Amino acid sequence: MKKIILFASGSGSNAEKIMQYADQENSYIVTAVVTNNPNAGVLQKAKNRNIPTIIFTREELNNGSILQKIDKISPDLIVLAGFLWKFPSDIIASYPQKVINIHPALLPNYGGKGMYGIHVHRAVLENKETISGITIHYVNDNYDEGNIILQKTVNVQDCTTPEDVASKVLSLEHEYLPKVIARLVNETI
Ligand code: GAR
Repeated sequence: MKKIILFASGSGSNAEKIMQYADQENSYIVTAVVTNNPNAGVLQKAKNRNIPTIIFTREELNNGSILQKIDKISPDLIVLAGFLWKFPSDIIASYPQKVINIHPALLPNYGGKGMYGIHVHRAVLENKETISGITIHYVNDNYDEGNIILQKTVNVQDCTTPEDVASKVLSLEHEYLPKVIARLVNETI
């Protein structure tokens, strides 16, 4: 069975969908949920399924100690599902084409440092965009710039708050991210 590791910083609704999909479809297993945030909701979601969790500091992420823990698992794919720190170069270099991220907008628009979560949706509204969407992409050393794997769009003309946009975009994330993971681990990797 293919092994994936999830990195997440927040509530972990995407992580939850990925873990559900793993239970139902048997196409990969979530071997660890890894977070920088000791209060992240994703930790309880992992514990509910008896999935091991790792909480780390910025130093541990950047001094190789998280890489060592990942190496022990030897994952087929590392998924950033709402992970908000810059991902370290040593892990990217050790797992080429095996680290993916989901971004809640249509890159290359609304990406880069500071563009995460609700900030993205606020900017989309301020610019009076009629569509937004999701981008699933490989991770490289620059924020939100790796090769794109999948984009899906949604009409946001009827949205009046950033939360309205977030909710539409999140539905797309939940629908597509688990399937893309399954495709990547079972076909191309
Ligand atoms: C998701 O919308 C994800 O796309 C976004 O954080 C949210 C996490 O939600 N990621 C980024 O903004 C990365 N730049 P979740 O914790 O409910 O899965």
